[in-house]
Amino acid sequence: MTKIFVTRKIPDLGITMLREKGFEVDVSSKNRPLTKRELIKFLQKKSYDGVLSLLTDPIDAEVMDAASTVKIYANYAIGFNNIDITEAKKRGIIVTNTPGGGADRVAEHAFALILALSCRVVEGDNFMRKGKYKGWDPMIFHGTKIAGKTLGIIGTGRIGADIAKRAARGFEMKVVYYDVVRNEALERDFGAVFLATPEEVLKQSDVVSLHVPLTKETTHLINRERLALMKKTAFLINTSRGPVVDETALVAALKAGTIAGAGLDVFEREPKLAKGLAKLPNVVLTPHIASATAEARHDMARLAAGNLIAFFEGRAVPNKVS
Ligand code: GLV
Repeated sequence: MTKIFVTRKIPDLGITMLREKGFEVDVSSKNRPLTKRELIKFLQKKSYDGVLSLLTDPIDAEVMDAASTVKIYANYAIGFNNIDITEAKKRGIIVTNTPGGGADRVAEHAFALILALSCRVVEGDNFMRKGKYKGWDPMIFHGTKIAGKTLGIIGTGRIGADIAKRAARGFEMKVVYYDVVRNEALERDFGAVFLATPEEVLKQSDVVSLHVPLTKETTHLINRERLALMKKTAFLINTSRGPVVDETALVAALKAGTIAGAGLDVFEREPKLAKGLAKLPNVVLTPHIASATAEARHDMARLAAGNLIAFFEGRAVPNKVS
């Protein structure tokens, strides 16, 4: 019987799909991210054939060797930087992701962060709750209009393209972008302008939104030097992966007024925040929920289970990344 280990509770649909195929499915008994040690311990309990993993599971050579019967890791996430793809390839292990699951919602969340900053929603909400509102005042909470401003997108895959569409069509923003490959559809459909370097995007944009995968090359893509290139009035939005931004450098830049604000859904050392970040008034922070809708989570369960089923039925695996 095919044995699957699911590293954390996910929507029932995924588990039901696997069990309906006659697979033996075990779900982690701990409703929290597993440490590498715990993951290895769980995986060594039985000779599992497949794992439905989460983005918090560190799956490296050590895990792969410790769980030598596992032939496929079906990651329940759009990103898959938690899995060492090179090591998986070396061992002929299949890795899949859930690319459709919540990508459009991430674009909406990026806009939620942009608008929260530009309309000062969180500051205003705190002010109201503290009973500080004494009547309409023309001098309080001046925000920033985003229509006519420039949105810079770094990384224009599915999510980056969804942001471009919303920016150009919904918010009347100009769009500039950088990616390693030019995205002609984005230029044609949304008037996006390709800039040859991330530096140029940082210099020209009023809002910079990051949508790159986390790799060695993109780790600390946004560092002290690059933050210094941004406009003093600009906002930085990160819904990709925390380590893309040097968070300590960001805190320093926000304190110094190098940039005006940041909207972050992901953090360099999740769930920890860089020292001083949570004290800053010019940041909006959300707990890695950019794709968190019931529909998206359901979709992700369906896609991840579907990848496992296809693999064990010997069909082409739909969302194979290695
Ligand atoms: C969330 O961050 C995902 O990669 O799906």
